[in-house]
Amino acid sequence: MVKVKVKLVSWEEIVDWSMRLAENIRASGWRPDVVVAVARGGYVPARLLCDFLEVTDLLSVQSQHWVEAAKMADKAILRYPYKLDMSGHKVLLVDDIVDTGESLMLAREYIMREWRPQELRIATLQWISPVAKIKPDYFLIEVKDWVWFQYPWTRLEDVTQFLSRIFKEVREVTEEDLKRLFEEWYGIHPHELGAYWEMALRRLESKGLLRKADGKYVRIKEQ
Ligand code: ADE
Repeated sequence: MVKVKVKLVSWEEIVDWSMRLAENIRASGWRPDVVVAVARGGYVPARLLCDFLEVTDLLSVQSQHWVEAAKMADKAILRYPYKLDMSGHKVLLVDDIVDTGESLMLAREYIMREWRPQELRIATLQWISPVAKIKPDYFLIEVKDWVWFQYPWTRLEDVTQFLSRIFKEVREVTEEDLKRLFEEWYGIHPHELGAYWEMALRRLESKGLLRKADGKYVRIKEQ
């Protein structure tokens, strides 16, 4: 039984999803003149949407939850707020996913209040409809059962986090058993992760949380 349902997302899927999302936006007959990415998850989809929708103006705001992969705190904060005059502009606010929707709601409120655009619409790749407090104007995939989307831009961070969670329960393990546990917990086989697997283990070692001894990984600190 997996402990966290994870969907490992490839770069090819990101490009394909963003193309199709752009197509939906175009088909609606609405065209933004400014794209605003919600940092950090919205960066890549926002940049691709600019390409596909022929929009040159791309900005960003950083609105985030205190993030640990697949564990969300329930407070969003807007970091580095700044003011702009967006009157007369149609803004497309872009993020990778609407989970609870807190960070997008905060970004939207802030932009509407402080930048005063003529119109603001929201586009995301995924919308987790049962938990989301908002529905984006444009989304590509409605997710009905909660899943952690392991996007390519958080691969190292997430894999490190996933491993460190295993080491909360396991003090000492061979690499072979660790790979088996990882697959059991997350439904991802480490060979799907290429170089990220090694990098994540190195990261835990360099943080002083893990060391390799006699062919085994050993947790050093209480985590
Ligand atoms: N960020 C917030 N919720 C997420 C999820 N379910 N998958 C990936 N990234 C997220």
